[in-house]
Formats: sequence, C-alpha cells, structure tokens
Amino acid sequence: MQVDYKGLTLIMRAIREEDILELVKYFSSMSLHLYTKGLFAQTPKNEFEWDEKNRKDPESCTWAIEPKDLGRAIGITSLHRINAYDNSCSSGIIIWDPEWWGQGVAGVAHIGRTYWAAYEHNRWTINSTVRTENVASRRALERVGYTVWGTEPLTTIRRNKRLAAHHLKWIHPEMADMLFAGQVPEMYQPGLERARVTLALASSVVTFP
Ligand SMILES: CC(C)(COP(=O)(O)OP(=O)(O)OC[C@H]1O[C@@H](n2cnc3c(N)ncnc32)[C@H](O)[C@@H]1OP(=O)(O)O)[C@@H](O)C(=O)NCCC(=O)NCCS
Repeated sequence: MQVDYKGLTLIMRAIREEDILELVKYFSSMSLHLYTKGLFAQTPKNEFEWDEKNRKDPESCTWAIEPKDLGRAIGITSLHRINAYDNSCSSGIIIWDPEWWGQGVAGVAHIGRTYWAAYEHNRWTINSTVRTENVASRRALERVGYTVWGTEPLTTIRRNKRLAAHHLKWIHPEMADMLFAGQVPEMYQPGLERARVTLALASSVVTFP
C-alpha cells in the first residue's frame, strides 16, 4: 500500500528480515518505550521470534513503514484481532526512528491503515489505547476519526510516574447508525465526521501499486 499526502510518500509493506535488525537497534532505547508496552531492550533473537509468531498469526496484519526512496523502514503499524466476530479490531504504531517524529508519518500512515481496515477488511470499529502523556499519538488518531471514550487513571508505572491511558474508538461512518440502532451518542459525532473526511481523502491518496 502507498500513501501520498502532504508531501510524504509512505510505502506500507510486509516486514523483511533486515527490518528486524533495524528495529532491534532502536528498540534498545527505553525512551522509545516510554509509552509502549515494552519494558526492556530486545535482542535480535527475541524479535525474530516475535516476527515468526506475528507473521503466522491470522488475527494480525503488520506493515513496515518506509518513506519512499529512503531504502529502510522507520517503524511499524499493525491491526490486531482482525477477525473478531463483531467486526472490530485494534491498532498500534511505533515509529522507531526519532529523527522522523513530528513529521506527519503517523498521520499519513493512519490514513492508509484506516482505509484498509474499513474498505479492504470490512472492520466497523477500531480500538486503541494511548498513554495520556503521548499527545502526538492521540492527536494522530483523533485526526483520522478516533474518539477518546474513557480514561484509565493507572495503567503502569514508568520512571516512578503513574501513567494513565486514554481508550479510543474509531467507528465506520457507514455503520454507525446500524451499530447504535440509529442513536449514535453525541460524543462520537465529531469523530465520525473526521472519519468520513479521512475515508474520502483516502480514496485519492491511498494506492495499491
Ligand atoms: C507517537 C508517535 C506514533 C507519533 O508519530 P509522529 O509521526 O511523530 O506524529 P505526527 O507527526 O503524525 O503528529 C501527529 C499529531 O501530533 C502533533 N504532534 C507531533 N509531535 C507532537 C508533540 N511532541 N507534542 C504535541 N503534539 C505533537 C502533530 O502536530 C500532529 O497533530 P495534527 O494532526 O493536529 O497536526 C511516534 O512519535 C512514535 O512512534 N513514538 C514512539 C512509540 C509510541 O509512542 N507509539 C505509540 C504508542 S500509542
């Protein structure tokens, strides 16, 4: 999948062996993991095992994110539980190269991932969880239509700080009325509008070369 938007061209492709070694290099930083579920640096062996498990998992779809012409991946993004009986799934992203943070990569990758979930895999909702301090991650999700529906006051302790987390939900705008029997809660309306805009935009910026 390729997404061209706001001067960024991202190739979202299958993971290759060389990506795993690149990932391990960056996953040795605990700053990267401040807002992930990672608790310690990873060895190549651990990550090759993760890749083996992940690629065989029929419930997950993971893309390596590679800016066009860079020649290497800078992160990964995934959808999990993609075969859930209620047509939901969950999402995650890690841009491991901090040189690329704040340049719109998550925003652009989310357009492709959301389009794929909605129109290539018929998912009606996407769930995600974000530490409250991780403002960039929350904003990138909200931009494509996710809504914060609740906040857990304590999910973990890092660097002697108690970390809270927002729970977010993306709802397919064409399914919302059916899902809520015609009574979509007011709190989801702004997100639904952003989801509509995202899907319309995606149909012109997402391609499958
Ligand atoms: C968090 C992360 C995914 C954000 O990705 P990114 O490519 O840097 O984000 P973007 O550049 O697309 O920015 C997304 C939004 O956040 C804003 N933003 C970016 N950096 C920000 C910062 N440091 N503080 C506040 N807002 C910020 C952008 O302006 C943008 O908002 P907009 O859509 O309203 O313009 C990325 O930094 C990352 O992978 N970090 C490490 C692992 C991680 O935390 N993963 C997510 C776990 S939930």
